[in-house]
Amino acid sequence: MSAKSILVVHGPNLNMLGTREPAHYGTVTLVDIDTTLANMAKHDGHQLESFQSNSEADIVSKIQSLMVNRVDYIIINPAAFTHTSIAIRDAISAVNIPFIEVHLSNVYAREQFRHHSYFSDIATGVISGLGAEGYFAAYRYITKP
Ligand code: DQA
Repeated sequence: MSAKSILVVHGPNLNMLGTREPAHYGTVTLVDIDTTLANMAKHDGHQLESFQSNSEADIVSKIQSLMVNRVDYIIINPAAFTHTSIAIRDAISAVNIPFIEVHLSNVYAREQFRHHSYFSDIATGVISGLGAEGYFAAYRYITKP
């Protein structure tokens, strides 16, 4: 099994997980999710970095930085930028790194404006509605032998 490098990107308001709308997002915190992912990667011998920002510009810049510091895969929950950000989509296309789109909630069971994603058509896959397990499933897919 070859070691993989993975960047996990969390969009706006995901830093508030745990207290934010638990009916939609549960009570797990972002620290819980990132700690579990980091432990899985350490155990399996993979490289994994997590990055959260409330700023579209910072997420674009972080993804652009992968042009130099390349990774094998991105796991991204663009949060509200899912439904608005051509800029983040273009950044991912520019660096040409495969990615999995994750949403904690089932966006298709929610408001109409959440049904459109600027990312899904160019993602390897989309996981929506499985809570934190969606991140772990994405990790397992990327690191499968
Ligand atoms: C979300 C769903 C988005 O519609 C919302 O704006 C979020 C979180 C999710 O993980 O379910 O912030 O991406």
